[in-house]
Amino acid sequence: MNWLRRRQLLEQLECHRCRLLPQVIADFDMTLTKYMVEGRRGQSTHALLSQGSTDYDRKRQELFDIYYPMEISPNIPVEEKTKLMETWWGKSHGLLVEGGLNIENIRQSVEKGTVGFREGIADLFEILDGEGVPLLIFSAGLADIIEEILRQKLHRTFPNIRVVSNRMNFDKDGNLTGFIGKTIHVLNKNEHALEMAAPLHDEEGHSVGSNGNGSSFIKGRKNVILLGDHLGDLGMSDGVAYDNRISVGFLNENVENWLDTYRRAFDIVVLNDGTLDCVVELIQELR
Ligand code: TMP
Ligand code: MG
Repeated sequence: MNWLRRRQLLEQLECHRCRLLPQVIADFDMTLTKYMVEGRRGQSTHALLSQGSTDYDRKRQELFDIYYPMEISPNIPVEEKTKLMETWWGKSHGLLVEGGLNIENIRQSVEKGTVGFREGIADLFEILDGEGVPLLIFSAGLADIIEEILRQKLHRTFPNIRVVSNRMNFDKDGNLTGFIGKTIHVLNKNEHALEMAAPLHDEEGHSVGSNGNGSSFIKGRKNVILLGDHLGDLGMSDGVAYDNRISVGFLNENVENWLDTYRRAFDIVVLNDGTLDCVVELIQELR
C-alpha cells in the first residue's frame, strides 16, 4: 500500500475542507468477500448458486470456464471484452430463468456456498454504521444472493447499506420469472444509475425487494471511498458528483501481469486477500 499517496489524499480532503460526509461504494465479489476461503477458491454470488438442477448448474459452470479467463485476461481490448461479458451475463441469466430457481434454492445455496468476508469486514461495517456513513454495494453479481449472504453471515441488519446489483423477479410462489432492469456486468457499472439502489430492510428490519432511491441515500456525500477488485469497478462512482475520491484496488490473481496497471489506476492497492484495515483507518481519520 502506498502510505505517502494516502497521506497526500487525506491532506487533499482536508484542504478542500470537506472532511465530512464521506460515502463508501464497494464492489462485492472478491472485494468485500475473500478470494480464498479455507484453502478453496471463494465463490462469486453467481457461482455459489445451485438451481436444484445439476444439468443447469453444469451449463453455467461451463460458461464460467470459458468466460472467466477472458474476464481476467490483460490481453483482450476493453471493447471486445465488454461484448464478451454481455454475452456471458446474458447466457448465464437466461439459464437461471430457463432451468428454474426458487427462493429456497437461494437460501440453501448460501448456506452451502464457499463464501467468506474479507478480514476486517466486521470493524468496517461497525464504524460505517456508527459514523452514519452510507455503504453502497455495487455488484455485477446477484442482489438477492448478496442480501441473503448479509442476512446469514452478519446476524444483524445495517440501515446504512444499499445493494445495487442484478435483481431477480419472483412470482407469488417464489419462482424466478426474470430480472429487473438492465443487466450489470463487470465492465458496464459506469452506465448504471444509482436509482437502482434498493433498501435492504424497511424501518422494522424486514427485508424489502422493491427498488428504492440510491441518489437520495448518498445525497450531499462529496467524498467517495471506492473499493473494487476489477478495473471496471472504478466506473462505480461515475454517477456521483463527488469532490474527492480515494480508490482502493484489491488485486487477487495474475498479480505480476496486473500490478503496474493497478498501481496506476487505484490510489491504494491491497494484494492477495489482504485485510480491510486500510479502509477502516481511512474512515477513522476522516471522522
Ligand atoms: P462483482 O461485480 O460483485 O465482482 O461480481 C461479478 C463476478 O461474477 C465476476 O467476477 C464474474 C462472476 N460470475 C460468475 O462467477 N458466474 C456467472 O455466471 C457470471 C455471469 C459472473
Ligand atoms: Mg469483484
